[in-house]
Amino acid sequence: MSLDFTEQRMSYEKGSLEQQSVPESPFALFGQWMNEAVAQKVPEPYAMSLATCGADNQPSVRIVLMRELTDAGVVFYTNYESDKGQDVAANPHAEVLFFWHQLERQVRISGHIRKIDVQKSANYFHKRPHDSQVGAWVSEPQSGVVESREVMEARFAELQAQYPEGSEVPAPEFWGGYEIVATRIEFWQGRANRMHDRIVYTKDDAQGDWQTARLLP
Ligand SMILES: Cc1cc2nc3c(=O)[nH]c(=O)nc-3n(C[C@H](O)[C@H](O)[C@H](O)COP(=O)(O)O)c2cc1C
Repeated sequence: MSLDFTEQRMSYEKGSLEQQSVPESPFALFGQWMNEAVAQKVPEPYAMSLATCGADNQPSVRIVLMRELTDAGVVFYTNYESDKGQDVAANPHAEVLFFWHQLERQVRISGHIRKIDVQKSANYFHKRPHDSQVGAWVSEPQSGVVESREVMEARFAELQAQYPEGSEVPAPEFWGGYEIVATRIEFWQGRANRMHDRIVYTKDDAQGDWQTARLLP
């Protein structure tokens, strides 16, 4: 099968972005855009593509859910032994991408990635629905090959019997949060004629001040 989309095009005309009028902090602009995405009912606007690159130099990308915006960057939760966990153990740099089609916007956040505090991860783990907590134990190691769905389901049932509804599921050591400490955040607003607005915030290190620049689209 082949597919041809060369005749498909949209004109983006929903907004604009001026370097002189953006807030000093990229997090303020990100918060504003996120609130607008929520108001526009973008489904799961906090879903983001996470790009990592491990020792093999092969980039990998997948969706994860942003669970928190901190004053340093974004937090998501996952299995530390997964493929992405192995990537970031070898190369602690990552980028996430939000795409909100209804607003014709994308945001890219990149920087250094680090594990969050163990207790904070455990607190969040216990806020999840009971069966999701059980499910985290089934996915050990996440990204590993499993023989069949039946094997997964049998393991899930076994763990449900071990930790019945109402009992506490221990927070796995292999599961927790990562924070991407941002040093570059780019805001893209689609415009007509491919004359899109791109404003990038950069800083040299986690302590420095943010600088802005306009990038060619
Ligand atoms: C909408 C959506 C939300 C997801 N959220 C998460 C998440 O928050 N954490 C996570 O580990 N995986 C999440 N996943 C699954 C990942 O995309 C991926 O399949 C999994 O983490 C394994 O990735 P890896 O093998 O590259 O480590 C989500 C997938 C989708 C489609």
